[in-house]
Amino acid sequence: MKKVKVGIAGLGRLGKEHAKNLAFKIANAELTAACSIVPAELEFAKNELGVTDVYTDYNEMLAKADIDAVAIVTTSSQHCWQIAAALDAGKHVFSDKPLGVTIEECKMAEAAVERHPELTFFLGFMRRFDPSYAYAMEKIKAGLIGKPYMVKATGIDPEALVQGAIKFAPTSGGIFIDMAIHDIDLMRWFLGSDPVEVYATGATFKHPEFKECGDDETGVAMYKCANGSIGFVHVGRTAPYGYHVETEVVGTEGTLRISPVPEKNLCMIYDKNGAVKECVSGFPERFADAYRLEMEYFIDCVQKGVKPEVTVYDGTKSTQIAFATTEAYKKGGILKIEY
Ligand SMILES: NC(=O)c1ccc[n+]([C@@H]2O[C@H](COP(=O)([O-])OP(=O)(O)OC[C@H]3O[C@@H](n4cnc5c(N)ncnc54)[C@H](O)[C@@H]3O)[C@@H](O)[C@H]2O)c1
Repeated sequence: MKKVKVGIAGLGRLGKEHAKNLAFKIANAELTAACSIVPAELEFAKNELGVTDVYTDYNEMLAKADIDAVAIVTTSSQHCWQIAAALDAGKHVFSDKPLGVTIEECKMAEAAVERHPELTFFLGFMRRFDPSYAYAMEKIKAGLIGKPYMVKATGIDPEALVQGAIKFAPTSGGIFIDMAIHDIDLMRWFLGSDPVEVYATGATFKHPEFKECGDDETGVAMYKCANGSIGFVHVGRTAPYGYHVETEVVGTEGTLRISPVPEKNLCMIYDKNGAVKECVSGFPERFADAYRLEMEYFIDCVQKGVKPEVTVYDGTKSTQIAFATTEAYKKGGILKIEY
C-alpha cells in the first residue's frame, strides 16, 4: 500500500516526538515536510530527520509540499484555523489536543470536518491509545467491573518543571483548561456519559505565584454525569517524585486502577533508601507508546478510509467541560453544564 506522506507543523516539545515517530517508526508513513516558526527547529528537521522541504509559513507548506496529510502540533491557539486550512486544501488531519482554546474556534473546526467527509480527521487524545488504558477499556467492555459509575483521575506534573508552569500560568487559561483536558476525556470515555454539573476548587501551598495570577497549583473538580455516574479530577503541578498520572474506574462489580504507582519500569532498587521504584519523569516518557500508537492508528485510518473513533465533537465537548470547570472554580458552588 502507498505510504502516507505527512507534513508536520510544530516541532516543539511534543512535535519532535511525533516527527521522530513519523520519520523512523511508522512503516506506512513518510515525513516529507516540516513547518515551524522557530528556525532552529527547521535545522533539527533537516539534520536529525532528513526532511529538507521545510517552511516557516504553514499556508505555504499546504500549497507547495508533496503531502497527503498534516500533523498539527503547534501552539493550541493555532490548531483550529490550521485544521480548517488543511482540510480545505484536501489534506487529512492529525491535530494534537486541545481542539481549540475557545468554543467558537472548536465550532469552526467542526464545520470544516463536516465540509470534508472524504478526509480523515483525528484528534490526539492519546491516553486512549496507551496500552494500559486501552486494556482497561477492553475489560470494561467485557463487563469485568459491571457498570462503571465513578472515575477518579489524577494528573500531576513533576515539580522539576514548575518554573515553566509559573511562567506560562498568566496565559494558560487556568489549571483546568491547561491540565485537565485528558482526564475529562477519559472520564467521558470510561463512563460513556457527559457531565451536567460541576463543582471545582483549588489550593496553593508551595508556589504563591500561581495565586498571584488568579490560578492555583492544585485543582480539584467533581462532576455529576447525565447517566448518574460521578467523576473526580485532581490536577496539580508539584509532584516532587516525578510525573503522576493515575486513573481509577469504579464499577458495580469491581475496580480498575491504571498506574497506581507511576513507575518508570519493572526494576525495583534495593539500597540505603530502602526498596524503591523510580517514577516516570514526564509525558514524553510515560506516553511514548501512546504517541506512536495513536499516529499509527491515524495513518491506518487514512489508508483504509475509516473514521477514527475519537471525533472533532469529543474535542469540543472536552473544551466546553474544561471551560465550565474553570467558571465553577471562579464562581464557587455547583454549576450546571450547558452544551
Ligand atoms: N497529548 C499530549 O500529551 C500533549 C503533551 C504536550 C503538548 N501537547 C499539545 O501539543 C501542542 C504543542 O505543545 P508543545 O509543548 O510541543 O509546544 P511548544 O511551545 O514546545 O512548540 C510549539 C511549536 O508550534 C510551532 N508554531 C507555533 N505557531 C505556529 C504557526 N503559526 N505555524 C507553524 N508553527 C507554529 C512553534 O514553532 C513550535 O515548534 C499544544 O497544543 C499542546 O497542548 C499535547
